Amino acid sequence: MKDIAVEPHIAEISMPENLRVGLLVAEQRKRCSKIGCNAEFYGFGFGQSPFHVPPPLQRSLGEHAGKGHYSAAEGIEELREAIAGFNKRHFALDVDPSRIVVGHGTKGLMYTLFSIIGGSVVIPSPAWIGYAPQLTLQGKKYHLFFMKPENNYKIYPPDLDDFLYELPEEQHLLILNNPHNPTGAVYSKDELEGIAEVCRRHDTLVLADEIYALTTYQFENFTSMGMLYPEGTFITNGLSKDRSAGGYRLGSCIMPENCSEKLKDDFTKVAATVYTNISTPTQNAAITAYEPNEEIEDYFKTTREIHQIMGTFVSRAFNAINGIKTTKPEGAFYFLADFNHISEDLKRKGVSTSNDLAKSLISHPHHITTISGDAIMVHQDDFAARIAFVDYNGRAAFEKFKEKPPKTTSEEETFVMENAPRMVAGVDALRMYVEGLKRR
Ligand SMILES: Cc1ncc(COP(=O)(O)O)c(C=O)c1O
Repeated sequence: MKDIAVEPHIAEISMPENLRVGLLVAEQRKRCSKIGCNAEFYGFGFGQSPFHVPPPLQRSLGEHAGKGHYSAAEGIEELREAIAGFNKRHFALDVDPSRIVVGHGTKGLMYTLFSIIGGSVVIPSPAWIGYAPQLTLQGKKYHLFFMKPENNYKIYPPDLDDFLYELPEEQHLLILNNPHNPTGAVYSKDELEGIAEVCRRHDTLVLADEIYALTTYQFENFTSMGMLYPEGTFITNGLSKDRSAGGYRLGSCIMPENCSEKLKDDFTKVAATVYTNISTPTQNAAITAYEPNEEIEDYFKTTREIHQIMGTFVSRAFNAINGIKTTKPEGAFYFLADFNHISEDLKRKGVSTSNDLAKSLISHPHHITTISGDAIMVHQDDFAARIAFVDYNGRAAFEKFKEKPPKTTSEEETFVMENAPRMVAGVDALRMYVEGLKRR
């Protein structure tokens, strides 16, 4: 039998970050085992909530295991009503359930949306790796809009305005990820208003990827783009990050206010054509995750406080290393580490592209996993890496926090040392890596 032919554009699709980190680690383990090295790896690469699924959601999934029938492609009515209530309580968004569709995580919803919405997509860089490969798979055009360090890697409205003027006359969909993966930045209401004004001027649609919204450390500072630009914004959110249930594969998309019935029907038609519906037991269980529930509310509060403590500690420790600058995370569980100040040292050691940076950091004897270069959609001459600060036992840290929440900076530091020793050791490994670069 000849080799099975594969469509040529599949070769163009970049590997998702989890597979990329997994491959990097597997390759390095192989190299290490050849020299008898059994060292542990410092896991700043893979970004997934370290916490347990909230117990009420776990119980609910068991209770609904018997619901084996097909369901509506856009999601069951009771769940969409619960999601509407949740958006009202948390984000002050007044949304009729008919504007809500549920899907296979927000990733699945984005894929369906990209396949329906005409025109091209604008991806601000740095970015989560997820968007571009989906567009390549669909043969859809996208434009990269580079955000600048002096703007804290946020979309700066005058720059966006100039950028949109230069684009071909067609419909555009701007990705607005807030809080942001990989920088941890959170947009203020004023900043979002500036972006909304530009989008309105250009008739540009927005895909507000708000999957990390409830992890915003000062949650009272979070504003949904749906409040400021309701007529042009699709909002995606789901269970993966704030409820640590990525594997449940359940997310929601809120369609723009007053969007046509045809658009909703098109969504249902495509969903029904491709996957019929998402798991009915999961949808039923998810009602519990969206309805008012004190234990889940407390879970949001506790987990976001722990993310803040971990992020503050690790980003400060990185900044204390000569030559490294980081963004300051305000939400989610990432920050961007900028190695450009030591780019000459890196190049002298053979690290000539941003993609090489992650490979060099993981190499023996450093064993530091990160993602860099095209995995965060930056130029190859931009030596930046995404640092995820989730390499610890989330359940144990959660329980320790409930027993005795740290009150002072020094108690917070002790909390990190006791609950995330691998991350603390990873910072030391990075310091040694940088010192090694400076030695000729
Ligand atoms: C910025 C961003 N958007 C979307 C997703 C996808 O989340 P989901 O599990 O809902 O597909 C992720 C997951 O890593 C992410 O980081």
